[in-house]
Order: sequence, then C-alpha cells, then structure tokens
Amino acid sequence: ADLAFYAEDLKKAHAAMKVMRETGFIRAHLSKDGEPEKVLFSQTPYIKEGNINSPASLARLKELGKHAQENTDVVISLGIGGSYLGNKVLFDVHCGELWNSLSNEQRGNYPRIYFSGNNIDPRRTGDIINHMKDVAQIKKTHGGQPLRIMLLVISKSGGTLDTMSNFMVMYDAFTKADNIEVEVVAVTDPNEEKPTLLKKLAIEKGWQQFAVPDGVGGRFTVFTEVGLTLAACIGFDIESFLAGARDMDKACQNDDLWQNPAMLNAALKFAASEKHGRDIEVMMPYGDYLKSVSEWYIQLLAESLGKQFNKEGKEVCYGRTPVVAVGTTDMHAQTQQHQQGKLNKVVQFIRIDKWADDLVIPNVFPEVKKLADIAGVTMGEALEVARQSNADALASNKRYSAVFGLPELTPYHLGELLYMLAMSIAYEGELADVDAFDQPGVEAYKRIMGPKLQALKG
Ligand code: PA5
Repeated sequence: ADLAFYAEDLKKAHAAMKVMRETGFIRAHLSKDGEPEKVLFSQTPYIKEGNINSPASLARLKELGKHAQENTDVVISLGIGGSYLGNKVLFDVHCGELWNSLSNEQRGNYPRIYFSGNNIDPRRTGDIINHMKDVAQIKKTHGGQPLRIMLLVISKSGGTLDTMSNFMVMYDAFTKADNIEVEVVAVTDPNEEKPTLLKKLAIEKGWQQFAVPDGVGGRFTVFTEVGLTLAACIGFDIESFLAGARDMDKACQNDDLWQNPAMLNAALKFAASEKHGRDIEVMMPYGDYLKSVSEWYIQLLAESLGKQFNKEGKEVCYGRTPVVAVGTTDMHAQTQQHQQGKLNKVVQFIRIDKWADDLVIPNVFPEVKKLADIAGVTMGEALEVARQSNADALASNKRYSAVFGLPELTPYHLGELLYMLAMSIAYEGELADVDAFDQPGVEAYKRIMGPKLQALKG
C-alpha cells in the first residue's frame, strides 16, 4: 500500500535517474542558481574511451599494481571520508585483518598496507612512523635494503587538514629517516586550470598522479581511481568489481519497481521513514570484515540525505540517522535497543550465503551436551541462523528489518552491493526532494575551524 501511495513520486525519481544517466546532470538545490548538478557516478562502472574509467586508465592502474608488487614494501593510504572509507572496504574484504603479518609470498608480493589521514591523532600517526623506522633498521641489519614506502595521498580538494597534516608529518619523518625510501602518489582533482594544492605539489615534485574525477562526490568514488589505486596495490580484482557494479546498474534501469533493486530499496526506506517514523537505519552486516561496509554506508547515507532544506529551499530536516553495527557482535550490545527501544529503526542486514573456507564446529567435548549439539554445523551456517533469529525476533515485535544477500563475498558481488546502495541513495534524494550530492553541513564546520587554527599560531 505504501509503495502504491508513492507510485507517482517513484516514477518521477526514476525519470530523474534516467536523465542523470543520459546527460550526467541532476536537478540541483535552487540556491545553486537553478543550474543542474553534474553527477557522474553512474558512469563509473563502464570502461570506455573518454569515460572516467577507460581502457587507458585501467592499464595505468595495472602498472601501478605491478610497480607496488615489484618496488614497494609498504603503502600508506592517506585520506578521510570519501577518500578513505571505500578503500578500507576493499582492503578489509580482500586482505582481512592479518594481511600485514603474512609473508611476501602469501601476499602475492603485494605491499603491506596502513591507513592514515582519517583522523588527526598524534598517537596513531607516531606509532606508524616509529614502527616503519624500526622495520627499516631491522632491514638494515639484514642486508641493508631500504624500506620502500609509498604514500598514497588521496584528497579531492587537495587541502583537507586531516589528510594533509598526517601526510606532512609522515613525509618529513620518512624523508629524514635512515634506510627509508619514500615515493608519493597523489590522487586529487585533475583540473589543471585551478590545480589543488596537492596537484601543484605533485607537478612540482614529479609525483605520479591519479584523479578524483569531476562530478563524482567523495562518497561515490570507490569505483574511481580513489578506490582503484588502493585496489591495484593489493591485487583486488578491479574488472570483476566494476562488472558487478555494471550489472547492478543495468538492473537499476528497470522500470518495474520490483525488478529494480535500488528503486525498491529507496522506496521501502523512504516509506518506512516518512510514513512509519522509522528514521534510524542500523546497517548490520554479519561478518567482521564487512563492518567497514557499514562505516562506508554511514557516510553515504548521512552526508547525502541529512539535509535541512529541500531543493526548493523549504525547511524539511530530512534523513535517517545511520548506526554502525555488526552481527553477531552487536546482538550482545545493541539488539536490546533494536528489539525493545523506540519504534524508530530499520535494521538493515547483509548476509553472505556461501563463505569461502567455512569451518565446521567439531565435536571436541561430546560429554557436554550443549556444545555437542552445535557440533557438525559450520560457522557460516551458525552465523546465518543467528541473523535469521534476530530478524524473526524483531518481526515478532513490530520491528522493521531487511536483508541484502550476497551469494559469495567476491569483488563482483561487492561491486553489485556498493553500487546498489549508492544508486538507492540517489533515488531517495529524489523521493525526498533533497540534494543528495552536496554536503553544506560538513562545509559549515570547516569554515569555522580554519580561522581557529590560524588563531592558534597567533
Ligand atoms: O563525501 C565527501 O565529499 C567528504 O566526506 C570528503 O570525501 C572528505 O571530506 C574528504 O575530502 P577530500 O577528498 O577533499 O580530502
């Protein structure tokens, strides 16, 4: 009934998505002089000459991957928000927690990976620097080879304080350190007429450059060179990832609501929020290495839909508050709230149908009935039973939940999932009539912070 109620709005939203795909523009907030807004993320899955991802750009990424394998020991990916969260997803899903402890052979000779720039935290930055210096000294005593560090600096604006402060601290420390060789790769807005600070530096110092393309906001960039440079440095299958996004894009062109995953998801979430007051969305994947998908989605939802004014300038204060959760962990923490707290949430699950290398729980204590009862079941099966039980318990108490199922946790299916979520947010922006592609609230604090920092220096 709710979907029928919104049928006309859905038609309009779908038509706007069609225009966005065909022209690369979407109707913007009126305050932007009525000029339509350039939105190109729906082009990113298509590898074509002249597109954001072209055969030539993919070839450059392959070269970067080869270079990382042959000439780099460590990559430190520096970025924040959209210049970090997608990269962390790719790393977690592909590499897992223990990547940096694996041997070179086990890593396929790809470098060890660290993330920085996603906070201005002196302790963690100092820890990474000290650790690198220690490793360089150990290498020195074992043959003298220098530690080869690539600083992969990612910033669309090229001047974000969080990213650039960490970059400067690390660049300074590593260029002065004994037995460390530093290489910088800059990923920034490629505009040559108005070059970003990072671009200017890259030109001056001769650093290799990749692009954060025009028309793709930070939170939509995982399918561009922002995500793909890191992907190349870990041997993540870029082509399958883009193929998944591409197939999802094709599915999302379907006019039939029930065959269009992004439109259906957006419609249900919009109805839950607008008609039933469910304006908190808990993103709860089942599986540790999917937690960063939840963190990535939180930015996508919060920055895109959390808007005070609609496109006509009317105050609407729209948006669901996103919450990061992970199953089963948060069933022992947040689930009490989900099950009995305010009736204001949608719990969005992600499940993996088939885990690679699933483990059978063995019957090691046959004399203990409770433990013997779960023996013979795989951990993947137990995880899914836990998720289903959570969903059933929520449903039995008028609580809303939904599930996205991935047949397997592969680059292809990850590409499908991330793309569907991005497209769903674009649909919901149209349904709610808010500009899903700007972030005036983030810019507001940046305007206050700049002068405050200057004042610190007297
Ligand atoms: O979604 C966004 O636009 C933001 O979260 C940015 O990604 C974030 O502020 C980082 O900006 P930049 O890439 O310019 O350093």
